[in-house]
Amino acid sequence: MAQYRIATIEGDGIGPEVTQAAMTVLREACGAGTLAFQMLEGGAGHYQRSGEVLPEETFAACRDADAILHGAAGLPGVVYPDGTEVGNDLHLRLRFRLDLYANVRPIKLLPGVLSPLRAFEGGGIDYVIVRENTEGLYASRGAGVVLRDEIASDSLVITRKGTERVARFAFDLAAKRNGAPKDGQSRVTVCDKANILRSYAFFRRICEEVHGDHPGIAIDYAYADAITVHMLKRPDFYDVIVAENMFGDIISDLGAATVGGMGISPSGEIGDAHALFQGAHGSAPDIAGQDVASPVATILSGAMMLRWLADRKNDAGLAAAAERVEAAVGAVLAEGRAVPRDLGGSARCTEVAEAVRRALG
Ligand code: IPM
Ligand code: MN
Repeated sequence: MAQYRIATIEGDGIGPEVTQAAMTVLREACGAGTLAFQMLEGGAGHYQRSGEVLPEETFAACRDADAILHGAAGLPGVVYPDGTEVGNDLHLRLRFRLDLYANVRPIKLLPGVLSPLRAFEGGGIDYVIVRENTEGLYASRGAGVVLRDEIASDSLVITRKGTERVARFAFDLAAKRNGAPKDGQSRVTVCDKANILRSYAFFRRICEEVHGDHPGIAIDYAYADAITVHMLKRPDFYDVIVAENMFGDIISDLGAATVGGMGISPSGEIGDAHALFQGAHGSAPDIAGQDVASPVATILSGAMMLRWLADRKNDAGLAAAAERVEAAVGAVLAEGRAVPRDLGGSARCTEVAEAVRRALG
């Protein structure tokens, strides 16, 4: 395997400990010297110390690296005068400036993990939410209007380019998967509120146009309110769900909750030229520094990073390493060797990482 430079931003709260855990596992999986982790500053804590949430040198290093690995960012009370959180700008600026337009959020129930949806066991829930990550309601970040303390407004922005590319990403992903657990059908579900707003009707229409290029993949539709019911009543129907930014943010947390929670849910924020990988959870400052956070989401995000790099660099060794990381996590959880607290166990962050590292062997 060649060597790859990984821009690494530990961030705030539990960010450092889950990042270090993932690095331990990834180094073991890929062998010494394959991944060069370039440690970089950023987040709400850095903002408090320096006035910068994303220093230019961090941005440049992320832009020039082979991939970006991130822990978490954001601290309560660290907000701008307009009331919005500072730490979130670490993610949002990287997303918008590096054009990370597909926020890929696997929702997979692993063997040994108990779902609150009792009817489902490992393998019974396996879909991916592809969240448009650069526009939608988030296009108004820092641009909303508050007038005379009487009225506030944020615009929802849906573009043809933004929708075409995220829909294409979703259909291409469905073509690579094995279909929904329920029926094996390769399917993309368009999540929107086309019944109410023209913007979402436009989003749906563009997804339909893109579907025309993927005849072998089924398309279906679910309104953002209705899909929350279906995700609980028939999650095995879903293969890939594509959604506007804000809806994707919301339903991906609901989906994560059905497969063990935010501590087990990875994410990959992918553009045509760059990608950032992080657990879908936040910085959990209340448990920071206690070695009790679950590193599983960040470790699985690291495996997503290896897969993405393997595809881009045609590096079969990285793909094999990703398989081994995912298999090791699965074995540790299925055999209960080191179960983190959020999954009902008592294993510490470092203990989970060590168990996964050993399971690689
Ligand atoms: C997420 C988070 C982010 C978002 C925050 C941290 C900016 O909730 O990645 O889901 O709102 O997208
Ligand atoms: Mn979120």
